[in-house]
Amino acid sequence: MNRFKISLEKKTSRSHEVFIGRDILDRAALLIAKGNWAQRYFLITDAKVAALHGERVAETLQKAGLSLESITIPAGEQAKTMATAVAVAEELLRRGADRTTGLIALGGGVVGDLTGFVASIYMRGIPCLQFPTTLLAQVDSSIGGKTGVDLPAAKNILGTFHQPKAVFADLEFLRTLPAREMSNGLAEIVKCAVIDDPGLLELLEDWAAILRRGDDLDTLLPIVTRAGEIKKKIVEIDEKEHGLRRILNFGHTLGHAVEAASAYALPHGEAVSIGMAGALALSQRLGHLPDADGERIVALLQKLGLPVRLPAALDREAIMARMEHDKKKSGGMIHFVLLKRPGMPFVNGGIPGERIREILAAAAPERKAQRRVKTGGK
Ligand SMILES: NC(=O)c1ccc[n+]([C@@H]2O[C@H](COP(=O)([O-])OP(=O)(O)OC[C@H]3O[C@@H](n4cnc5c(N)ncnc54)[C@H](O)[C@@H]3O)[C@@H](O)[C@H]2O)c1
Ligand SMILES: [Zn+2]
Repeated sequence: MNRFKISLEKKTSRSHEVFIGRDILDRAALLIAKGNWAQRYFLITDAKVAALHGERVAETLQKAGLSLESITIPAGEQAKTMATAVAVAEELLRRGADRTTGLIALGGGVVGDLTGFVASIYMRGIPCLQFPTTLLAQVDSSIGGKTGVDLPAAKNILGTFHQPKAVFADLEFLRTLPAREMSNGLAEIVKCAVIDDPGLLELLEDWAAILRRGDDLDTLLPIVTRAGEIKKKIVEIDEKEHGLRRILNFGHTLGHAVEAASAYALPHGEAVSIGMAGALALSQRLGHLPDADGERIVALLQKLGLPVRLPAALDREAIMARMEHDKKKSGGMIHFVLLKRPGMPFVNGGIPGERIREILAAAAPERKAQRRVKTGGK
């Protein structure tokens, strides 16, 4: 089992450990008993994860002597709402949860974000533990303490920072994860490698074929650990996203716009993969990144089975409009994380819309690109 510590300044009570391994539930249970963070725990999970893993996790924790009850929410992003948070809080209250109660999030990023959010506000804050069960949650959302729920008009718009007491990422959960959910996580791992770890980039290149298959947990373990450590390092320096933490948005400016323009039909990881290809093209076009580096990363995304071009059905003006819309939230500029070299990202806030349109045109699939050449060549 690998482990690392997240050390946060001033309030050391926010520092905690992340445990990553295979078959670590027994050890997790003992560590929770030893951690003594609460007298009683509620396991918060979604309906899908409950059916696949809920019972086994609950039994393991109870065997270690922990007092544990469960609350199940519906699966999927649609459940990440204030209404679900209120329903969970009401259920906690009904069952007598108080300040000596702790929450354990068992699930993907939706369960993790929502549980962390409820834990941060229930009776002004109770302890929370994370058991991430998707690859995305193991390398990304369970680390860093960001919690939240969505409003119909915007994702993650209501939220808090609430660090968990510990994170237990058991790779065995991934055995039941659908391939598309695996690729969501892989996209975030490529992102981590690109912004911070050229060595990890090489590992991903070497093992792309195995990773794409998704069933070799031994290969995955060092990779998940390294990606988690990258996020840890960034969060330790900039917990509340005043600056550096923004580099974790590499591929996400365009990725979020693509995701929204597809009405969330495109999975996050695929949208981010397209967004990373766009950010690389932009970095190349603006003369920051050598073409060979950009091409190398795009080739890796493709080897992992991730898309790098816009789906034919997506209107690029709708994507532009989405970025213009997001711009208002970030001080009137479209912020792009660009790259100088693998491991050397920077945030650029003043990219002309015309440059972005060029990249979008070039990122369209063949059919659309040809149409543009015919109609657009004034
Ligand atoms: N807090 C952060 O820093 C942060 C970072 C990135 C993303 N996020 C958030 O994370 C969310 C996305 O997370 P996600 O991709 O894990 O989505 P998710 O939680 O919706 O999980 C995806 C699907 O997989 C199912 N599932 C989970 N574990 C499974 C398993 N082991 N086997 C089979 N099915 C399983 C879930 O029921 C769900 O249907 C978004 O809401 C996003 O905003 C948060
Ligand atoms: Zn992401």
